[in-house]
Amino acid sequence: MREEPRQGRVGVRDAGPEDAEFLLDMLLEAFNWTGAERFSRKQVLRNKTLSHYVAGWQREGDLGVVAVDLAGPSGFQIPAGAAWLRRFTAASPGYGFVADDVPELSMAVLPGYRGRGIGAGLLRALAARARDAGIERISLSVEDDNPAARLYTAAGFVKVGRNGNADTMVLELDALGQAVGK
Ligand SMILES: CC(C)(COP(=O)(O)OP(=O)(O)OC[C@H]1O[C@@H](n2cnc3c(N)ncnc32)[C@H](O)[C@@H]1OP(=O)(O)O)[C@@H](O)C(=O)NCCC(=O)NCCS
Repeated sequence: MREEPRQGRVGVRDAGPEDAEFLLDMLLEAFNWTGAERFSRKQVLRNKTLSHYVAGWQREGDLGVVAVDLAGPSGFQIPAGAAWLRRFTAASPGYGFVADDVPELSMAVLPGYRGRGIGAGLLRALAARARDAGIERISLSVEDDNPAARLYTAAGFVKVGRNGNADTMVLELDALGQAVGK
């Protein structure tokens, strides 16, 4: 079923432990970015390599932001998208693993909210929080043909390697600070 575009005003807030379920929804959107269901919720939950992007959220070092539709009924804020960072280890790496001290980005926006600048806003907000937390670099993995790569390149990510059919990209947060005059 096609989702109708949403028109409400959207804000960004910090992600908390209560957002674990929504982050899992967004992880599914990220894994299933082609629109086809490559992985079901159950498959992700049963597979450690897939679920470790959100399992046990929010643990130490986890940092995330949630975009919320401020025009929900009775003043409710409806989650519309999320971006978050988690550290991995060489022993149990993410797809975009670079080093232990370089957290990996995951992000998605619900289909009805895409193409309105929400993804770019989430990325900006998360990068600013990460820089404030003393994080110097963040990484990600983006599969070939995923148009999300354009968003990442525009945000300053550069390709540093390949993993299967995906690019590994890194954003230097210091360079970003200089770029926006901070
Ligand atoms: C990637 C994603 C988070 C971007 O969110 P968004 O709110 O649509 O992004 P924005 O509106 O801020 O767009 C920013 C840029 O992203 C690029 N882009 C991202 N997805 C795109 C798509 N499906 N089609 C065209 N351009 C896209 C464009 O370059 C766009 O810039 P432009 O509008 O100036 O051309 C969203 O498309 C999404 O959830 N995709 C599915 C999940 C996914 O792929 N996650 C990332 C896995 S690595």
